[in-house]
Amino acid sequence: MQITEFLPTKASQSDLEQWRDVLNAMTAEDMPNEPRWTDDRLREYLSITMPGERRLAFVARDDDRRIIGHANLLLFGGEFADAGVFEIFVRPGQRGTGAGRGLLRAIAERAREEGRTTIGVEVIATTPAVGFYDRMGFNRAVVENRNLLALTEVDWDAVGDLSGRLAAGYRLEYYTGHLPDDLVERYAATKVHLKAEPAYNTGAWRGSADAQRLKDSLATLAARGMRSHLVVAIAEAKEMVVGLTELVVAAQRPTRGDQYDTVVAPEHRSYGLGMAMKARMLCELREAEPQLVDVQTWTAREGDPMEHVDAALGFRNDVQWYEYETDVAGLLRRLG
Ligand SMILES: CC(C)(COP(=O)(O)OP(=O)(O)OC[C@H]1O[C@@H](n2cnc3c(N)ncnc32)[C@H](O)[C@@H]1OP(=O)(O)O)[C@@H](O)C(=O)NCCC(=O)NCCS
Repeated sequence: MQITEFLPTKASQSDLEQWRDVLNAMTAEDMPNEPRWTDDRLREYLSITMPGERRLAFVARDDDRRIIGHANLLLFGGEFADAGVFEIFVRPGQRGTGAGRGLLRAIAERAREEGRTTIGVEVIATTPAVGFYDRMGFNRAVVENRNLLALTEVDWDAVGDLSGRLAAGYRLEYYTGHLPDDLVERYAATKVHLKAEPAYNTGAWRGSADAQRLKDSLATLAARGMRSHLVVAIAEAKEMVVGLTELVVAAQRPTRGDQYDTVVAPEHRSYGLGMAMKARMLCELREAEPQLVDVQTWTAREGDPMEHVDAALGFRNDVQWYEYETDVAGLLRRLG
């Protein structure tokens, strides 16, 4: 087995297909109900990042040079320049042979060279990755509930009704791909409230709370083959953006919607905005993304008010996601 750096911009089509095949073999084994990956825009997905960020990739190959596992490390800039997040996937038939450990070592060594002190990884609670990262001495920093909504089970009349139940003085607007310039600044200001949310109170929220970063983020998503959908709540008295929800549909997994970053500014809570925004999003998706099968979203473990909204819309809590992290120096010592 050999571990080398992988450059998605220069990779052959065959290597990209093998990269995808590892993901699909992992999915079939560990999470058979999850959608499979396509290689549509996979090169862009792997190579394009936000300005100031970089993604490094590594592959493990067998003696026939077939890819048996891969890893990638996203290096943040700015205030998070001491951290990185990574993923490692090993083909089920080749597990237990040291590929995971070898890829983790490549990630850790590179993280140290790049001046990172902490690295983190997202793990689904029911997969063997949990045992692996426990064994490697990672700490479980954040636990979230994943909620899944099967669109065939949606009561569209009820959801249509909920999307219109707003207190007087508020209205919703829907955008796809980009936001009009006159909205960007006000939208970014609202995202600041996400930092105070329980799910992000460990400082893990790395979203885009200033206007330029928000524009960059939407452009980056589009370049990576991810279509973004946004619903905004406006308080009409001052035309302020007081709530928002974002969702992306990736070309690489077009039947799955990822809904993240839903927030209502604290002084505008309990007026039905969270429910109405999420309901409106579903109605828009029905038109804009007719191939969608389901939508996933996440809530913090305890007492997240969004749980009530999700349940009313038909989302079902199915599995926990863990964010594991470790200090790079300690990890390298443990890896020997
Ligand atoms: C986690 C994963 C990368 C491990 O890869 P691997 O090639 O089997 O790991 P290695 O053979 O290098 O094992 C390294 C060490 O971890 C241990 N280990 C590996 N998987 C383990 C598990 N599930 N439980 C406990 N220990 C485990 C091995 O016993 C070995 O210990 P040792 O070196 O002290 O003998 C692999 O199982 C995988 O790709 N899982 C899916 C990844 C994933 O994240 N899936 C869902 C999305 S979150």
